Amino acid sequence: MTAQLIDGNALSRHLRTEVAERAAALKARGTTPGLAVILVGDNPASQVYVRNKVKACHDAGLHSVLEQYPENLTEAELLARVAALNHDPAIHGILVQLPLPKHMDGQKVIEAIAPAKDVDGFHIASAGALMTGLPGFWPCTPYGCMKMLESIGYELKGKHAVVIGRSNIVGKPMALMLLQQNATVTICHSATRDLKAQTLQADVIVAAVGKRKVLTADMVKPGAVVLDVGMNRDDHGKLCGDVDFDAVKAVAGWITPVPGGVGPMTITMLLVNTLEAAERAAR
Ligand code: GUN
Repeated sequence: MTAQLIDGNALSRHLRTEVAERAAALKARGTTPGLAVILVGDNPASQVYVRNKVKACHDAGLHSVLEQYPENLTEAELLARVAALNHDPAIHGILVQLPLPKHMDGQKVIEAIAPAKDVDGFHIASAGALMTGLPGFWPCTPYGCMKMLESIGYELKGKHAVVIGRSNIVGKPMALMLLQQNATVTICHSATRDLKAQTLQADVIVAAVGKRKVLTADMVKPGAVVLDVGMNRDDHGKLCGDVDFDAVKAVAGWITPVPGGVGPMTITMLLVNTLEAAERAAR
């Protein structure tokens, strides 16, 4: 069997067109959705990420501002900026790019963002809303994974999903989203004794570890859906995921590539959340 690809670029194009249409409609009613992106320091990877986020906003007709600060910005100064943006009516979403410099308490900064503007979905109010099934913002990467499953018409009810990785940003919210769709969910992590025994039982596998070849072909049940959240570099410096793609695609039923899979979906769901925040504010 050769797996079918779930194309994150194509799905993103489709969803971003929808965002642009909804944004234009909202604009016509007097509200332009606005995202503020804050970057502290000069981490080169973060600089690329925030530039891509701002460009994606621009392309979809959303207003965005990029605030860049030097590494030596104090936590109090950053908290003051977040407080000002919380009260800025032109801004519906606030994103503080992580990681923050070591002298700052990242969680404290995230908690300072008004939950109504927490388009990253990292605030404890957002996490609590996801856990209890109440309306709130879902973290963009697992939300994008759910959209990918939806795009292939995958019915999660009664299926076994295995999530590899337990981060607050991907693994834990991913498990809750799958559970909400009535999947039976197993979360695996670095202390899991027999990862292969778990993944072989899975109808859906989400690999979100940040390490190459965490998932190899012998670990996958024929026909399973494999979503690869990893963003790693191979020995030649080429972007690759957590999944041994070439081998696993011969076993899986569906698979996401890296690049061009989950990656573009993360930014797409940021646009969706920002638009949603603006639509809620305009109600
Ligand atoms: N750093 C890496 N990924 C992310 C993300 O999705 N949001 C924020 N704020 N920082 C990140």
